[in-house]
Amino acid sequence: MLTLDHLISQLRIGLVVATIEGIIIKSNPAFDEIFSRRNVKNIFDLLEANPEVLKCIKNAITHKGSYSLWAHDLVVQSGKKRAMDLEVFPLTSDNGVNMEGVIVLFFDRSSGMRITEQSKQNDRIHYLSTLTAGLAHEIKNPLSGIIGASQLLGASLGANEELKEYATMIEHEASRVDRLLGSLIRISKPRKLDKKPVNINKILHNIVLLQETRTRLHIDFNEDFDPSLPEIMGDEENLAQVFLNLIKNAIEAIPHDGKIIVRSKMQTDYTLKQGEKKKKMIEVVIEDTGCGMTEIELANLFVPFFTTKSEGTGLGLAVSYQIIEEHEGQLRVTSELGKGSCFSVLLPI
Ligand SMILES: Nc1ncnc2c1ncn2[C@@H]1O[C@H](COP(=O)(O)OP(=O)(O)O)[C@@H](O)[C@H]1O
Ligand SMILES: [Mg+2]
Repeated sequence: MLTLDHLISQLRIGLVVATIEGIIIKSNPAFDEIFSRRNVKNIFDLLEANPEVLKCIKNAITHKGSYSLWAHDLVVQSGKKRAMDLEVFPLTSDNGVNMEGVIVLFFDRSSGMRITEQSKQNDRIHYLSTLTAGLAHEIKNPLSGIIGASQLLGASLGANEELKEYATMIEHEASRVDRLLGSLIRISKPRKLDKKPVNINKILHNIVLLQETRTRLHIDFNEDFDPSLPEIMGDEENLAQVFLNLIKNAIEAIPHDGKIIVRSKMQTDYTLKQGEKKKKMIEVVIEDTGCGMTEIELANLFVPFFTTKSEGTGLGLAVSYQIIEEHEGQLRVTSELGKGSCFSVLLPI
């Protein structure tokens, strides 16, 4: 008889079901074959050499969501690698209320099963980013005409304050759209960075100085810079943009009294990925005692257009993330609701 178990055992897709503690409660032969599995009973032990997969599983458990990895070099037994697509689904009971475990599917890319789908997805992303960048450029051109004309208009209105105010409003709003389009172009097309030796402490200090004078007195800025920090190769304008975005977010997260600590330090023996050689990195930490974030906000904050602010664009962190990626660094965040957030930027020396 054709039972579901029989069908699953015939699948060429590796399938495993594990509890939230990682105990394997079901697996099919394709999964056991991938890992040459015999006695290992815990999926966390089995995937020890695959931190990214473990992260997906832990995320699925914490956020009750699905996660996938495409074309992942899965480390299987004895350090061998196999290119796989992976999908992790949460296993819940009582209509999604209780987390019971996870289901993980492993698609062997060499079988050609998923490649067409993946390349379609890549084509789509490429198409969308080209479209976005193209559209943004097309709008930017007439917009600069509008900004220029509104400036001229304002200047030629003499003493007519009411009309002058309208001209200023046009200029102000058109400039806002112009900045937004600039951010869109920035995230839709990675670009070549203008890398030169930069002094991170100097960039940070200048931003703090400016923001301190601009913000209300109730925010206490604290600078804690490592004076022995070496210069790093980076794009000064872009890095300043990242730090400004992070500091502005920190300011906006503090409704009443609060503190912002801006710290720079050396991190020796740092590895961004497991198995990678240890590197020296510079770390910039921006910590605030603001509102903090919910799990949902934390999971979405780098998504373009995600914002919880009425005047926000939701592009600041998406742009920052891209810039740090282009510097081969890392942007990390921890946050506690009601207590504050801490953003950390790691940059290679
Ligand atoms: N320091 C912070 N404290 C609390 N929430 C933050 C912080 N930084 C970012 N966020 C959250 O991330 C969202 C996205 O930030 P961002 O991309 O800079 O866009 P925007 O500032 O325009 O909303 C914010 O709307 C906010 O919900
Ligand atoms: Mg912002």
